[in-house]
Amino acid sequence: MNDEEVAATMDHCITTLKDGIGSTTLEQLKYLGGGEVLAPELLELTPNYVERAIPTEFLERCLLDADGGIKKGSKRVIVTGMGGCGKTQLVRKFIDDYEDSFASVFFIDGSSKETIKRDITEHVRALGGAHSQKSFEECMKFLSLPVQGGERLLVIDNVDDPNINISAFFPKWRRGSVIITSRNGSHGQLSPLSHLQLDVMSLNESIDLLIRGSGGIQLSAQHSEAASKVAEELGYLPIALVQAASYIYRTECSADTYISLLRTSRQRVLSDPATSQIDMRYTTAFAAFDASYSILPSKARLALHLLSFFHRQRFPIDCIGFDAVNGFSSDIRYLDRGEESERGRECLKEIFYSDGMWDPAELEYIISSLRSHSLITVMPTEITRLLQMHSLVHEWARLRVPGTEILRFQDAAIRFSRSGLVTSMGDDARE
Ligand SMILES: Nc1ncnc2c1ncn2[C@@H]1O[C@H](COP(=O)(O)OP(=O)(O)OP(=O)(O)O)[C@@H](O)[C@H]1O
Ligand SMILES: [Mg+2]
Repeated sequence: MNDEEVAATMDHCITTLKDGIGSTTLEQLKYLGGGEVLAPELLELTPNYVERAIPTEFLERCLLDADGGIKKGSKRVIVTGMGGCGKTQLVRKFIDDYEDSFASVFFIDGSSKETIKRDITEHVRALGGAHSQKSFEECMKFLSLPVQGGERLLVIDNVDDPNINISAFFPKWRRGSVIITSRNGSHGQLSPLSHLQLDVMSLNESIDLLIRGSGGIQLSAQHSEAASKVAEELGYLPIALVQAASYIYRTECSADTYISLLRTSRQRVLSDPATSQIDMRYTTAFAAFDASYSILPSKARLALHLLSFFHRQRFPIDCIGFDAVNGFSSDIRYLDRGEESERGRECLKEIFYSDGMWDPAELEYIISSLRSHSLITVMPTEITRLLQMHSLVHEWARLRVPGTEILRFQDAAIRFSRSGLVTSMGDDARE
């Protein structure tokens, strides 16, 4: 330190830090800054995109005037639906069709708070040198300002984590559009009138997708019939249809052969990734569901295992409560309860009891967790609420039951069905 050259260098560094950059926050250092920030890349639109008239018109009605211009004011559209039903692609197509009408389009990865902050910051910084050092908070303030000659579109895609408070990321602008895509239907509360609950494809859309994606299936009446059988087997779910089309394209098998394969080697065929597609978030329907499974609360996972042993439709939710208050032992017809029956009871208690007691709130929590990932839907009826699952979700849920646990859940399902409530209020239990 006594060396003159070292002292001079130190002085120089301190002056540079003091005068040249000024203060900087940790938040600023966290994201890439500088003059040449590139905006996050826009996800690709699938080359085999199939037009979906009804949901597309819904999006257009929410955001556009009758003359095709952008509506005035602050607008929000929430698109929700099960994994792989086509939410992201639908919105991506809207961007393709209308991006010229907006001053800028920000496409944000909504999978975590971190990715949302990162992408918003990078989009704003990419607008030019004047913004290149803005912190996330500064970017949000900037976004709230009016834009000359137009407005911005902010798409926050795949907001699937129920712990994200998405409204915290809405710019407080007077004029602008936000589109959210999520598996979580409860986000619809953010804008009930512009909530699009996207379902699986129609039969014609599914056939169209299979024919385009597989290249080999021709449009003759005969092939179209085979394609409709494949679509039906796969529950018209776009991601599964793409997977099937990719398999048919790669192996050059016919749609009829594919159906036979599905019937004989279902698990293997459904685990085969769609390799002929680019930029898919998940390459199999099961991988898309696995993403939800990995963040499900443990009790919801157990309930999913149990439900996989019942019929996939018309499971009467409220009969759980009737049986639970009696310790899952309301069965007076069967005197011999046996070890298996006891194991089943314990399993049911583990799922639906909280601290050793029946707690209806626990059941509601489980149902809402499963719904928030669109793994189930609930249909209210006069007698009870009926729980339903998509056919592929149901098959996948059964596969997720660990091998060592199968008997336990089977016993629980039998124990539960014996109460008679499942059969009297809903459909027959499978076991
Ligand atoms: N309209 C469509 N035309 C053709 N293919 C489609 C269409 N919609 C979806 N797909 C196919 O299905 C796959 C899944 O679609 P997408 O990613 O949009 O589903 P998602 O509902 O956003 O799913 P996730 O909840 O996992 O984000 C896409 O990668 C694409 O290959
Ligand atoms: Mg998506």
